[in-house]
Amino acid sequence: LANGLGLTPQMGWNSWNHFNCKVDEKVIKETADALVSTGLAKLGYIYVNIDDCWAEMHRDAKGNLLPKNSTFPSGIKALVDYVHSKGLKLGIYSDAGQFTCSKTMPGSLGHEEQDAKTFASWGIDYLKYDNCYNDGTKPTVRYPIMTRALTKAGRPIFFSLCEWGDLHPALWGFKVGNSWRTTNDISDNWNSMLSIIDLNEEYADLARPGGWNDPDMLEVGNGGMKNNEYIAHFSLWAISKAPLLLGCDVRNLTKETFNIISNQEVIAVNQDSLGIQAKKVRMEGNSEIWAGPLSGNKVALVLLNRATVPHSITGNWDDIGIPENSAVKARDVWEHKTLETIFVGNLTANVEPHSCKMFVLKPIA
Ligand code: GLA
Repeated sequence: LANGLGLTPQMGWNSWNHFNCKVDEKVIKETADALVSTGLAKLGYIYVNIDDCWAEMHRDAKGNLLPKNSTFPSGIKALVDYVHSKGLKLGIYSDAGQFTCSKTMPGSLGHEEQDAKTFASWGIDYLKYDNCYNDGTKPTVRYPIMTRALTKAGRPIFFSLCEWGDLHPALWGFKVGNSWRTTNDISDNWNSMLSIIDLNEEYADLARPGGWNDPDMLEVGNGGMKNNEYIAHFSLWAISKAPLLLGCDVRNLTKETFNIISNQEVIAVNQDSLGIQAKKVRMEGNSEIWAGPLSGNKVALVLLNRATVPHSITGNWDDIGIPENSAVKARDVWEHKTLETIFVGNLTANVEPHSCKMFVLKPIA
């Protein structure tokens, strides 16, 4: 969407994966505090996004959405001011239907202009727009109404389409929003994570600065996967130019979780200015090679072992998109080490079960 936003994939946090409907203003404020105190905000995690369940079931007499009194007693405007005072941005959630997916609050269908104005008047920076309880008309009809309403509301608001990939929003989303979900909801386990990033990969050609494929929010730190699996999860999201929206409780991070989500070299791959989504360039059973170009003639590479036994995996230059005879320096972005070897033609690494190796390759001759 040509609103000047999303020139690189959005980064931040969203309440849903960890808190579900148990979100309140205290959680949001403490999360904003934690993003700053941990240094994550400085690394780019600037959106603090409230998901479903923030409003009363009934609108006021004028039809305006009402923050839920029991959980957001100070109102959303006060929360925006707080989050802005920390140098962060606040996101909110609504739905292109009669109710949101939790069915605990109204959707915005038929109230698009009014709600967009409300969000803008509160100083909201980001809207995630879900697809539950709609009227059966196509999302290609309902979503652009909100796009126009947001444009008219007079404040740049990042527009995140949550249509779950049903009508292939990658095909029409670029004019409508800054990102679009390509899949159903992620679950905090290895198979769900892989199935989602696989599906998301099919639309790689359609992502670009201003509009990104969204394979859903991160589960890193929520406890359902092993550390090596979370490293693979974060690596695949980064190389796929997916939104990096943390989904854990950032107020209580383990050292392992923090080390994953704060890896600046991996974040830099995600935020690279070229904005080209990596592809799966080769699959050999459970061994996969994912690669995509970066600015400065570099290439990002993930060697993924989906199996439960170790594998030696080779990435060949002709698959990866590097000229056959190029000599290449390889930076291991998880080990934070530039390898001594100069690689010509290919690179081979041993990859542990349910793990990946991730490199940034730089041709030197
Ligand atoms: C849908 C969305 C989720 C989340 C929930 C909230 O399932 O896909 O990301 O927003 O609704 O109810």
